[in-house]
Amino acid sequence: MISSRAVVLLVFCLSLIPKSLGFVERSWAESIALANETVNLMTLDEKIGMVRGVGQFSSRCVGNISPPSRSFIVSGTNITIPPLCFNDGPAGIRLGGSNVTGFPPAINVAATFNRDLMYSRGVAIGEEFRGKAIFVGIHVYLGPAVDIMRNPKAGRAWEGFGPDPYLGGEGAYQTIMGVQSVGVSACTKHLGPYNQEHWRYGLNAEVDDRTFRELYWWPFMKSVEANVSALMCAYNEVNGTSSCHNAALIGDEGYLRTEGFQGIVMSDWGATHDSAADNANAGLDMEQPGDWILIGGGVYSGLEAAVDDGQVSEARLNQMVTRILTPWLRLGQDQGYPDINFNAQNPDGTDSLNLNVNVRTDAHTALVRQIGSASAVLLKNNRTTSDGTATGTTIRGLPLSKDIKTIAVVGQDAQQLNLDCGGGLNECNDGTMVIGWGSGSNNVEFTVPPIDAITDFAQGFATISSDITSNDLTGGPAVAEGKDLAIVFANAMSGELGFYNIVDGNEGDRNDLNLWWKGGSLIEDVAAVCNNTVVVIHSVGPVPMSSWNNHPNITAIIYAGAPGEQTGPSLVDVLWGAVNPSGRLPFSIDDDEASYGTSIVYGIDPFPVLDYTEGLFLDYRYMDSQGITPVYEFGYGLSYTTFAYSSLSIEASASSGSVSFILTNTGSFDGTEIPQLYLGFPSSAGEPDKVLRGFDNVFLASGAKQTVTITISQKEMSIWDVISQEWVVPSGTFNVYIGASISDIRLTGSFTA
Ligand code: NOJ
Repeated sequence: MISSRAVVLLVFCLSLIPKSLGFVERSWAESIALANETVNLMTLDEKIGMVRGVGQFSSRCVGNISPPSRSFIVSGTNITIPPLCFNDGPAGIRLGGSNVTGFPPAINVAATFNRDLMYSRGVAIGEEFRGKAIFVGIHVYLGPAVDIMRNPKAGRAWEGFGPDPYLGGEGAYQTIMGVQSVGVSACTKHLGPYNQEHWRYGLNAEVDDRTFRELYWWPFMKSVEANVSALMCAYNEVNGTSSCHNAALIGDEGYLRTEGFQGIVMSDWGATHDSAADNANAGLDMEQPGDWILIGGGVYSGLEAAVDDGQVSEARLNQMVTRILTPWLRLGQDQGYPDINFNAQNPDGTDSLNLNVNVRTDAHTALVRQIGSASAVLLKNNRTTSDGTATGTTIRGLPLSKDIKTIAVVGQDAQQLNLDCGGGLNECNDGTMVIGWGSGSNNVEFTVPPIDAITDFAQGFATISSDITSNDLTGGPAVAEGKDLAIVFANAMSGELGFYNIVDGNEGDRNDLNLWWKGGSLIEDVAAVCNNTVVVIHSVGPVPMSSWNNHPNITAIIYAGAPGEQTGPSLVDVLWGAVNPSGRLPFSIDDDEASYGTSIVYGIDPFPVLDYTEGLFLDYRYMDSQGITPVYEFGYGLSYTTFAYSSLSIEASASSGSVSFILTNTGSFDGTEIPQLYLGFPSSAGEPDKVLRGFDNVFLASGAKQTVTITISQKEMSIWDVISQEWVVPSGTFNVYIGASISDIRLTGSFTA
């Protein structure tokens, strides 16, 4: 006999089954037709409610719209539109209450060079947006962020996938495919280019057509290929016109629509700087949050009048509403999608709107840990023996032996972070750095800091001493002296400016490339007293290293980036060798900002013009062209094993290429290699000497070998021809470089197109 309590429990548990199992995706065409029919039944007021946010402080989510209060029956389908919910952010739910996972940001996902992990993270994020959606119902995930790291100090560069457009494109594509596979819409942002925080509300990015298409646009193009539901225009101007009323970007003849995009163009929050008519006629479909006070109270409040007096046609308004409804219908969000059930205005409160549902799962936690270790980049390792079983305290470098008995942990970046920093915006660098600050941050409350994970793991075989409450240049070295091993932590952070806090004098963009809190000095002082010093860097981007990286007492360096909440366990996995590192740098590391060929414009008033005169030459492309050898180059990263490359074969025409080679694990550890394909275009093409056009992640047991094939599409061997306004494959000889980084090229071949 089953008790009624058990039945209730059963019903409750059944309600937790992801709705992703029960929705039917529609085609774009079918969705557009249904949307059109629905729009035809709406009044003018109802349409206006659909295209305008309800206001910054009235939204249950980061943004909502106000739908018609009645249902419609179209083609036999009941259409009841909810107050569509838009929520941050790119690395997981922000302001959604507790009990969500702190995923790593995109910069670390990029460092995995692993499409499966990119996709899996997308699925897991989608599950939480929808999964919270078992109760909450976030319809649109405000990510991925794909802004190119034009300059390494750019405040929000960690929200995206780094300076390389191909890597960014793959990251965007996989993330969107993952998120949307569970019926949650994605919104790629910020179109763009949007590459610094200072003056973002009005700076003018002057960028030529080819540079825009090949670099900044590329991840958006891949997003459209992935059927992304929405795109967000940026705060700044592009070529003299505000991004959100820039017809060249968002109009019917602009980049987006001619690429086949059929979803929503929505404004960033308060990025509508012009009149309702200007924005609507230029191609902006939705304004968020709808009441941006500082910029005039939300311009689409004037849209009804603009339609009434004919400045905006009703046909255009209909098109806007259709574009908003279409993705909602396409992903089947009309079929039992749950009601909103949290309150961004009171995320931690106990109000009746916030059920604080737990969407964390063991699988998500394990995935964050896996991405954390897969994105750890081993920059230096003094281990000279390839014998994985080596033991004894005299063995220096990684992986660590359990014979190492006394370990010092030094640096404030090893300790738990401050959980009380700016209500969901993580606006401080106080403790370990797992993600930057601002709207791209997420819930950091479940962070497992390095000190906890190391102490847990070493229990029973080593003694841990620590000095981690601050970067104490006296206390730290004192603890490290005489120990078998010192692990020293240092970090650098950046974030979003907006109306958010300035953290230690950094207004979003970093003031310089340096490690914070005298991290560099701490590393040097610890290395001076401990001849087995392992350095761990948590950073949002490159930091100077050359004053200490070659120090003989520094036996290993791990660049762990911004690894998300499972930072400690993922680091332990790499330190003691449960995971053989395979992370690769998604940017080059150099001490000197001049090596990057771009700058951040700080103190200019009025709004500055940023000339993107460097064109296609960012990061490794620039360094290569200038003969600059960075401290560590793009694509670089060591493993506990070694790999050999052989037997290159290339089959290519002007329409596609297929490049094969044999990869062999020649060392004594099992491990993953990240072979990279760089393309050298015919010299007449005006491209950088080598551009990334392929990569793979290949796991091989010690001694094993495998044939690896990387394909290149026609577009990937094309340049943007500004005259014909088409992607064109330049004729001539293409060089193919297969390597373990941009500088470590192992095989070279060519083909003619
Ligand atoms: C402004 C940020 O630029 C954007 O990325 C974010 O989604 C919105 N605020 C909403 O928080």
